[in-house]
Amino acid sequence: MRNKKIALITGISGQDGSFLSELLLKKGYEVHGIIRRSSSFNTSKIDHIFDKLELNYGDLTDSTSIDTIIQKIKPDEIYHLGAQSHVKVSFDIPKYTSDVNSFGTLYLLESMKKHVPNAKFYNASSSELFGKVQETPQNENTPFYPISPYGVSKIHSYWMTKTYRQSYNLFATNGILFNHESERRGGTFVTKKVISKLIDMIVYHGNVEPLLIGNLEAKRDWGYTPEYVEGMWKMLQHSEPDDFVLATGETHSVRELIEEACKQLNLNLEWYGKGKSEIGICTNLGISRKTIVKVNPIYFRPNEINSLLGDPSKAKKLLNWEAKIKFKELIEIMIKNEFNK
Ligand code: NAP
Ligand code: GDD
Repeated sequence: MRNKKIALITGISGQDGSFLSELLLKKGYEVHGIIRRSSSFNTSKIDHIFDKLELNYGDLTDSTSIDTIIQKIKPDEIYHLGAQSHVKVSFDIPKYTSDVNSFGTLYLLESMKKHVPNAKFYNASSSELFGKVQETPQNENTPFYPISPYGVSKIHSYWMTKTYRQSYNLFATNGILFNHESERRGGTFVTKKVISKLIDMIVYHGNVEPLLIGNLEAKRDWGYTPEYVEGMWKMLQHSEPDDFVLATGETHSVRELIEEACKQLNLNLEWYGKGKSEIGICTNLGISRKTIVKVNPIYFRPNEINSLLGDPSKAKKLLNWEAKIKFKELIEIMIKNEFNK
């Protein structure tokens, strides 16, 4: 009988993995993670808790490493967060995205079936599964229609998780999470990119290149990550494995994101032009008017989800989970933490 629960996190060095590690340590778990060997440091998000974690080298494309780690650690709970998680990049490297996201999940499930069939498994599914949305808002019963290699790779891992649940009676749960953000978000995702750049504008008195942006009209349901990792944990404490949507129930466009961030930073923004030549000018940064935003088509995607809006009522009812932090407060938190950094 072990006196501590053992959790294994794939993707521990990412945004979600770092917050989930903190949460599980606070709850008294022994926390293990899988990290990739890299020629440069890749643990900046977990450096502050590094000595409390047990880290193992492995890679989701390498079934041997996954199997060895699971056999050695024998986790009670597996949180599978590791992924090639960038949607636009998945159009450039579709095979690699599938190797990691689809087959990585399969290797974990196979290994769990073999070595720890009584463990609990959380799979990081995504609102990208809804793609060309078939109804609004989207819930657990909304038909999927992925439109990116990333979305398709995550469909495979969603169904594999469900199939192992149904075929082998494993406790395997899908968390269908809508976008969630924080100061630890990777710099190439839109919330972090916008906020860091606008703060640089202020710090350097406008003497930086403008924010180059893609589709201003795309809408997303953006929540705050620490609340979402709590939801992941709750899913594995539920009486049975299931599929759950986590979302705020609000949707906002990239344009609104830029406007709200500018407002909170006291930057007066005026839009000029249309489509590929649209720009945003700031009228109160120094003496002259300054272009601070520029649409650049290199950030357009070959296929784009226009709007996502989640319905998290099942999670509220069965898990007592709710997103309390909504759009404006999320931006406020990210700005504050970015300034503190
Ligand atoms: P993230 O910051 O991009 O982190 C991804 C993690 O996966 C990193 O630790 C990364 O390691 C690791 N990883 C990538 N390729 C790997 C490989 N081949 N082998 C082992 N590890 C690998 O992503 P996140 O925002 O934390 O998201 C966590 C999970 O939730 C992902 O599966 C994502 O697709 C999914 N998801 C995210 C959101 C969201 O809004 N954040 C919404 C829905 C679903 P390195 O640090 O070495 O790169
Ligand atoms: N990244 C990025 N960069 N996105 C931009 C930009 C830009 O310069 N300009 C506009 N966008 C738009 C994208 O086209 C998309 O519609 C929206 O902003 C959000 O883009 P991301 O922040 O890259 O996130 P995502 O929605 O594609 O994917 C994230 O959320 C998914 C859940 O819905 C990722 O975290 C995925 O891993 C996750 O599954």
